Amino acid sequence: MNDVIKTIMSRQSVGRLVDPAPSPTELQMILKAAANAPDHGVLRPFHFIVFKDEEKMRFQKVLLEALERRARAKGSTLTEGQIKKESTKFERAPMVIAVATKINLRSKIPEVEQILSTAAAVENLLLAAKSLGYDSMWRTGEATYDDFVKTAIGLEATDHIVAWVYLGTNPRSTSESRDPSLIDLVTFWR
Ligand SMILES: Cc1cc2nc3c(=O)[nH]c(=O)nc-3n(C[C@H](O)[C@H](O)[C@H](O)COP(=O)(O)O)c2cc1C
Repeated sequence: MNDVIKTIMSRQSVGRLVDPAPSPTELQMILKAAANAPDHGVLRPFHFIVFKDEEKMRFQKVLLEALERRARAKGSTLTEGQIKKESTKFERAPMVIAVATKINLRSKIPEVEQILSTAAAVENLLLAAKSLGYDSMWRTGEATYDDFVKTAIGLEATDHIVAWVYLGTNPRSTSESRDPSLIDLVTFWR
């Protein structure tokens, strides 16, 4: 197995990540790897919003306000548990990166392909981080599709958040190689 395959086979979602997060130089490398994703029409539709340090903690207030607005719109009230969960989400990793597609509405490249290209950028990001010794988790959830949240991170309602990538170090430091089954996944057409 070469190093690239080893990195791919050892990537796994890790729900709780701790310091250290990638250094500024490593982050630059990781984001460049992400931006090297295949991209039909070379539209560069992807955009990366990095949350770290104080700003990461502060953004949780935006997530909570968005949740309160969604609840109000539905006429429901939030439980203590829901409030706590939403306002501590970003504590699950020392760094979070929102990866978004800034949709080019004038392009003839279909919107779905612009989103797919961004998903490819997300996977590049996860793998580049893994290759540098960091673990990750791709998360979405209701806030992903909330216009209030999109506006707070500088997106238009027509744009899409594709992932909240949680990044950091796995406290359990396992790097086992996986061996996914291909049963029912592959056919050779004849
Ligand atoms: C588009 C997308 C959205 C995801 N959203 C969530 C999420 O909101 N919460 C979560 O726990 N995992 C989320 N995941 C991670 C998957 O649950 C995870 O990749 C899956 O369980 C397989 O585990 P692995 O990443 O270790 O292979 C998401 C993955 C993708 C591709």
